Amino acid sequence: MRVAIITSSDSGYRGEREDLSGPVIAQLVEAAGYEVVARLLLPDEEQLLAETMAHLADQQEADLILTTGGTGFSKRDCMPEATLTVAERLVPGIPEAMRAYSLQFTKRAMLSRAAAGIRKETLIVNLPGSPKAVRECLEYILPEIGHGLEILMGTAQNCARK
Ligand code: MTE
Repeated sequence: MRVAIITSSDSGYRGEREDLSGPVIAQLVEAAGYEVVARLLLPDEEQLLAETMAHLADQQEADLILTTGGTGFSKRDCMPEATLTVAERLVPGIPEAMRAYSLQFTKRAMLSRAAAGIRKETLIVNLPGSPKAVRECLEYILPEIGHGLEILMGTAQNCARK
């Protein structure tokens, strides 16, 4: 399955800060057998982020879009809004699970506004911005995302409880 990774960061886009979270996502998904087909570093611009995600989904260039950054309270943080603009169906359970699981690491997990949704046959999931948070969240949700994608693509064998 094909993954596109989008990092939303004004300072990263301007070259003032290294994107450490995108590479963590790439490393984790590749270890899980996914193919990374796009790695994008974009500014915190809602319309650009939305158009980019819509293009990846509409052109069927990725089965999964994982984003990092832009889920907090900063004035420029707009990744959830961009995601909800292009999502045709909402998937609240994934960010709910990330937040619930993450509270054991930091109560500040409650400050993440991450969203998730489906556009056509592509699942979009927002992850937090820091490499540490990305690793904690993605290691937890990735196995279940795989099953979700199989259902979305119509290739799931069964739904045995785990
Ligand atoms: N989730 C996990 N698992 N680990 C973390 O360290 N940091 C939190 C939260 N989620 C964190 C986490 C913090 S401090 C914030 S402000 C929010 O994610 C939003 O992060 P972002 O603005 O970097 O996207």
